[in-house]
Amino acid sequence: MDYRFADRMDNVRSSAIRDLLKYAEEPGIISFAGGFPAPELFPIEPLRAVFDRVLVDEGRAALQYSSTEGYLPLREKIAARMKRLNIDCNAGNVFMVHGGQQGLDFAGKLFINEGDTIICENPTFLGGIIAFGPYVPKYAGVPMDQDGMIMEELEKVLEANPKAKFIYTIPDFQNPTGVTLSLERRKRMVELANQYDMVIIEDSPYREVRYEGQHLPSIKSFDTKGLVVHIGTFSKILSPGMRLGWIVAEEALIQKFVTLKQSADTQTSTLIQRQVNKYLEMYDIDMHIEEIRKLYKKKKDLMLETIAKEFPEGFTYTNPQGGLFTWVEFPEGMDAAVVLKKAIAEEKVAFVPGAPFFPNGGHANHCRMNYSGVAEAQITEGVKRLGRILKTLRKKESW
Ligand SMILES: Cc1ncc(COP(=O)(O)O)c(C=O)c1O
Repeated sequence: MDYRFADRMDNVRSSAIRDLLKYAEEPGIISFAGGFPAPELFPIEPLRAVFDRVLVDEGRAALQYSSTEGYLPLREKIAARMKRLNIDCNAGNVFMVHGGQQGLDFAGKLFINEGDTIICENPTFLGGIIAFGPYVPKYAGVPMDQDGMIMEELEKVLEANPKAKFIYTIPDFQNPTGVTLSLERRKRMVELANQYDMVIIEDSPYREVRYEGQHLPSIKSFDTKGLVVHIGTFSKILSPGMRLGWIVAEEALIQKFVTLKQSADTQTSTLIQRQVNKYLEMYDIDMHIEEIRKLYKKKKDLMLETIAKEFPEGFTYTNPQGGLFTWVEFPEGMDAAVVLKKAIAEEKVAFVPGAPFFPNGGHANHCRMNYSGVAEAQITEGVKRLGRILKTLRKKESW
């Protein structure tokens, strides 16, 4: 059938990650490809108790339509948590969405006209590229080092693109690199944004999953002109299946997001918001996050130690202080997509090739490896298998 699709569909890509995840389900495959939190830590029993309480105590309201901004007691609790992170806000600045991904879609819809430039880290989150795609932006990628986006490079990009629509950044344990933006650079980014009246979209799903080093203030905490839109989520601290996230922004922006939400899906699920609100009342989420941090540090250390032992010379990788991923750089010329095909076929191990994370292409010699969602025994075994393939390929292809 020759369907007459809208032109924007040419810019909607299916996620390479999603396509790959199907391999994770095949028997015997060890997959480092996903971005899954550790399922063994989902608080199933507490959530069962919470769900029950919500239905018994407030069932009629919980199953009803509710406000587009979100459930006020939950927004108040989120505002209080944000204040702990030095973000000066109240419930009026907090807007509930169905996951951070919906926040990115709304940011795209709100700001991007076809052909507009957006500035981002190079590489950046593939889900961001996918969310912005239908609005057809151009990307100005800013190079990064071990302290995140390089500010001198950002200055150059801003000079060349003073009318860019926003800077999109993932400052904490970035997806895909695991790198964190330093304190000085956070402050500098806000100074530059102020100079250009440039909105910053601060996408921060991992900020509470820090297991080493010192917490850094969010970029939003330095905002003096109402330019920073902060996106948070319960996906990595409670459950991604619940699809609950939030936006913190100036009330004038929240009003715009409300309009977009009304056209998208009216409101965020009343039931899920009340359940999470009740969880926050009945249980100590910080204790739960502490457990997540401990386990992820253990898994990260195990993955990096095994890579150090099993990978041949010439491969470098990041050592993240939080989050879910390490980012591996292969020797120049070695194509991670070619390696992946062989790794799946010959050793039943998968990862995500890095190229799709670069919005303007190139950089095929990278890959992202997830440790949070993989059992410890599988981390050791999977990295060993990958090491075997890499050694063989390096010899055979003289990479
Ligand atoms: C950088 C980044 N932003 C946003 C998201 C979306 O998260 P969710 O929609 O589950 O809240 C993710 C998920 O992995 C992410 O890594």
